[in-house]
Amino acid sequence: MHALVTSPPGGWLNTRITEIELREGRPTDVLVQIHAVGLNPADNFQIEGKYPGGPKPPFIPGRDACGVVIRGDGDGKWKPGDSVVVLQSSTTDLINGTLCEKQWVAAENLARKPDAWTEAEAAAAPLVFQTSWKALFDVGGLKPGQSVVITGASGGVGLAAVQLANSAGAIVVALSRSEAKRSRLQQIGAHHVFAPDDPHLKEKICDAVKSKGVSLVVENVGGPSLSTSVHLLGVHGRVSVVGILGGVEGTIPIPALMFKRASIHGVLVTDDTPQQAQAAWEQIVTLMSRTQSRPVFDQVFPLKEAAAAFKKLNENVFGKVLIALAQPVDARRMMGSG
Ligand SMILES: NC(=O)c1ccc[n+]([C@@H]2O[C@H](COP(=O)([O-])OP(=O)(O)OC[C@H]3O[C@@H](n4cnc5c(N)ncnc54)[C@H](OP(=O)(O)O)[C@@H]3O)[C@@H](O)[C@H]2O)c1
Repeated sequence: MHALVTSPPGGWLNTRITEIELREGRPTDVLVQIHAVGLNPADNFQIEGKYPGGPKPPFIPGRDACGVVIRGDGDGKWKPGDSVVVLQSSTTDLINGTLCEKQWVAAENLARKPDAWTEAEAAAAPLVFQTSWKALFDVGGLKPGQSVVITGASGGVGLAAVQLANSAGAIVVALSRSEAKRSRLQQIGAHHVFAPDDPHLKEKICDAVKSKGVSLVVENVGGPSLSTSVHLLGVHGRVSVVGILGGVEGTIPIPALMFKRASIHGVLVTDDTPQQAQAAWEQIVTLMSRTQSRPVFDQVFPLKEAAAAFKKLNENVFGKVLIALAQPVDARRMMGSG
């Protein structure tokens, strides 16, 4: 079968599409024909050897996927023909990733594809929705009627957070550097949108949410954005720290933290056991169906254009970048299909 393989010593120079033998699965594994894979910045970090605790080459990158069961598990939970989503959890097999035509996946790491979603939408969801769910509700404690600011809102995690927070009845404030993306964010559920460098950001947000500060910030950007996020909080507000796209270090305004009795929490999606991941996924699908929302993806590339797809991750995306391993995943959005 064809697979994207990173060989020793790793890096993009040693990553190519190649023909390999399919390994043998365990009795608790399910053989899945992979149809579409959602790319994440973490996949790129793994290929480049920059992911803490990441796999050592050789390995097949890729974590998220949607596909169809070819061979079920010993317990009979999964049967040939079942349409499935590969979920994230601490047991995800990082050496045997999803960027290949077929893969054995532990039965406990599979969920049924929601009927209302296309395969492309389902492949776009697992890691970013599970991360957002954790940042908003598990770590963030967000309740209906409370307000949340989402930084880097046009990315995979950000869009998922906008959709989930909206479905949960929160007041959603989305930050994006692009005016065009701010307008699209309003269409998918943000109640208020602002540029992160607006000189009157705090006054405008407080005015919009009719409060002296927000209940929660989902911090996808990190770096200098962290300090602003603490300033945006109301009393007992929280920051859920998810990402580091804007930098790995930030400053904390200690008086603001202290006087607001505020708190800053790290979020790590791979913390979950498969059972926790399944429970979160059920709530995600329920929340999304409440508003008939569907995961957002930007573009679909064929496997042979994997390098271009990863390059696209760092460009002007709105939603997920996908790789299709079977047709039709969403032919209208396929590169080169006109
Ligand atoms: N902790 C976890 O478990 C976990 C899980 C998943 C992802 N992550 C991390 O979370 C972050 C977001 O992931 P993602 O998949 O949403 O990424 P993404 O799809 O690449 O998008 C992030 C968004 O952030 C904004 N952005 C990008 N670079 C920026 C910069 N230098 N300064 C300010 N804003 C910038 C962009 O929005 P605008 O152009 O609209 O401003 C972009 O659309 C990444 O650092 C990722 O590694 C962490």
